Amino acid sequence: MRRKLVVGNWKMHGDLTSNQLLLERIINGVRELNNADYVVCVPNPYLFQARELLKNTNIAWGGQNVDQHEEGAFTGAVAPHMLTDLGCTYVLLGHSERRSLFHETNLTASARFEAAIKAGLTPILCVGETLAEHNAGLTEVVVASQMDAVMATLNEQEFALAKQLNMVFAYEPLWAVGTGKAAASEHVQTIHKFIRDRIAKRNTQAAAQVRILYGGSLKAKNAKDLFAMPDVDGGLIGGASLLANEFVEICRAAN
Ligand code: 13P
Repeated sequence: MRRKLVVGNWKMHGDLTSNQLLLERIINGVRELNNADYVVCVPNPYLFQARELLKNTNIAWGGQNVDQHEEGAFTGAVAPHMLTDLGCTYVLLGHSERRSLFHETNLTASARFEAAIKAGLTPILCVGETLAEHNAGLTEVVVASQMDAVMATLNEQEFALAKQLNMVFAYEPLWAVGTGKAAASEHVQTIHKFIRDRIAKRNTQAAAQVRILYGGSLKAKNAKDLFAMPDVDGGLIGGASLLANEFVEICRAAN
């Protein structure tokens, strides 16, 4: 039985004061919820604050992206060891907003995935199709190409490392992100099963173990239905992760 994982992606929201209030409420809300795992991915400037508030709690913290280089003249970039230095254990990779707004590609996602696992970070690789691709029936083609771009570059040793770190996949259809219209549970189940089957072609044990999250307008009101699907192992939450009550309710649904 895979343990469910609920990840909050704060995106570019927050400040010292509001973060403290939000984190204190979430800490109190999930303290007794011991049957799932929780992570918040906060903006980089607040990782130090997250570490101070979340150490000794049952909530982990992570980055929203990472660079593939270890150090150097890369203005504005953050290296994997900088995230681990601040206690991060997870990092989001290939988020659709990084792909669509910042010109990141399967190539960068792949290089960053490798760099992340080598630093000991658990990667959360985001995949998902646009509305046009969805309407054209291309969901599985797009998801497969995004997955393969990363999986194919991992040699056996790297794949074993990713497995050991409990790599995570997140299916986030772009038409559901920030729109208030979550994908139907049955559609999500179909794609999650597709993702798991694809991993199984490489390694059946890894496929059984990998947690596949759904993201895209996941709220307290639809969390239970989505989490009831056999291949939905949790959620990647945007907007609702900024509201303590909503986020805690989603965490409760994962228990
Ligand atoms: P929303 O939950 O706001 O739709 O965002 C989903 C997302 O992009 C999480 O990474």
